[in-house]
Amino acid sequence: MRINETHRYHPKNMFGVLPAAEHDKILHTKNLYDADPRKEKINAGIGVINDDKGDLWIPKAVRSARRRIVDKYISGLLTHNYMVPSGKLEWGGNPDFIRGTANLVFGEYAHELLASNRIAATGTVGGSGAVSTFLEALKERVKSGKPVPAIIYGSKHYPNHEWMIDTRGFKSKTFAQIKKDGSYNLEETLKAVNEAKPGSVLFLQGGAHNPTGINPETEEQWRTIAKTAKKNKIDVFFDIPYAGLNKGLDEDTKPLRIFMDENVSVAVAVSYSKNAGLYGERVGALLVPAANANEAKRVGGLLNRIMRNTVSSPSAFGEAIIAEIFNDPILFARWKKDLSSVSRMLHKRRELLAQSLPENIGPLIRKGAGIFSTIPISEKAVNFLRKEYAIYVLGNGRINIGGISTDQIPRFALALNAALRKYPIIT
Ligand SMILES: Cc1ncc(COP(=O)(O)O)c(C=O)c1O
Repeated sequence: MRINETHRYHPKNMFGVLPAAEHDKILHTKNLYDADPRKEKINAGIGVINDDKGDLWIPKAVRSARRRIVDKYISGLLTHNYMVPSGKLEWGGNPDFIRGTANLVFGEYAHELLASNRIAATGTVGGSGAVSTFLEALKERVKSGKPVPAIIYGSKHYPNHEWMIDTRGFKSKTFAQIKKDGSYNLEETLKAVNEAKPGSVLFLQGGAHNPTGINPETEEQWRTIAKTAKKNKIDVFFDIPYAGLNKGLDEDTKPLRIFMDENVSVAVAVSYSKNAGLYGERVGALLVPAANANEAKRVGGLLNRIMRNTVSSPSAFGEAIIAEIFNDPILFARWKKDLSSVSRMLHKRRELLAQSLPENIGPLIRKGAGIFSTIPISEKAVNFLRKEYAIYVLGNGRINIGGISTDQIPRFALALNAALRKYPIIT
């Protein structure tokens, strides 16, 4: 049937009354980069790791595990069915994936926690899903009459945290976590924790920090924060999306265990997007240790309920890949080797870049770990880099070291120096 003009579909959109949503600056920068036809363009905006050929870095262990998993699907050893909560504790997701993740983050505590069924856990849709599931669980705590006076985090933070916290109606408090010389500001962190009301939640990142690359520098600093949190009855949420990209899986997850040493109540979000190169597969997990098996089962039930209400069940394919690595000591050793080589690559890029930058900027890059550093450049300088050099960094001065291949560093440094001469740094 031909449709004449009067029959065309011109509905009043049910959300048309709403104002335009603020666009996500990170994704917007990626869109601008993708649309740029210049061959020499550099994407130091969105947080992905490229190897020195400019291709997405995927660990060799993940490539091998992926091949095996595909074979298992083909041969029928694995099915495409939903993963429904299973096992004694009704973990959401692949039990081998959850067990492996528990071993990874809880280290020396894992054996006892696992043996006594004291971990509530679910696989999540990426690390973001773990953060949002955690916040949904926290909302339930508020509903049950246990207030969360504030969520506390550093003033230089991952914007998605802020967005997720604000949209769920939590009050937040920030502290200046970076000193002028680029080092971690322990004093301000402790002040914020000391001033917080009991029941507040401190957001920390293990391994490496987004967007600054700067975390507490010593075990002693972490321990001081842990003791202060304990003293003030502050719960701690650890977001760990970069394990293995700095000093190794064990070292990078250790800060969490320092809080466990001090008996602080913790929850941990883990992402395998960057350290396994599984960005699009959306592999993450949320784990919450409990005092006993009954409590773990209750909390696990809540996490399952939240998952059911939002995405129903976690991402099977990616979890199977990671589980395959955890289940095979040879693959696991391979993954560790892959991580140590990518970590060396990132540190080398940092050093090369730092050497070519002014004295007040170089140390910010050199001191950082993982893929990000934030430098105090103006939005004008950021636009200048984009227009004149096809170089993309975020408006807040966040640079993704993982996106600049080693041979692009001289051009990146030249451009950044030119931008800094034209638009001197903001203090
Ligand atoms: C601090 C932090 N948390 C969570 C995430 C989310 O990771 P995913 O991509 O797995 O959702 C990221 C990713 O950039 C991050 O930097």
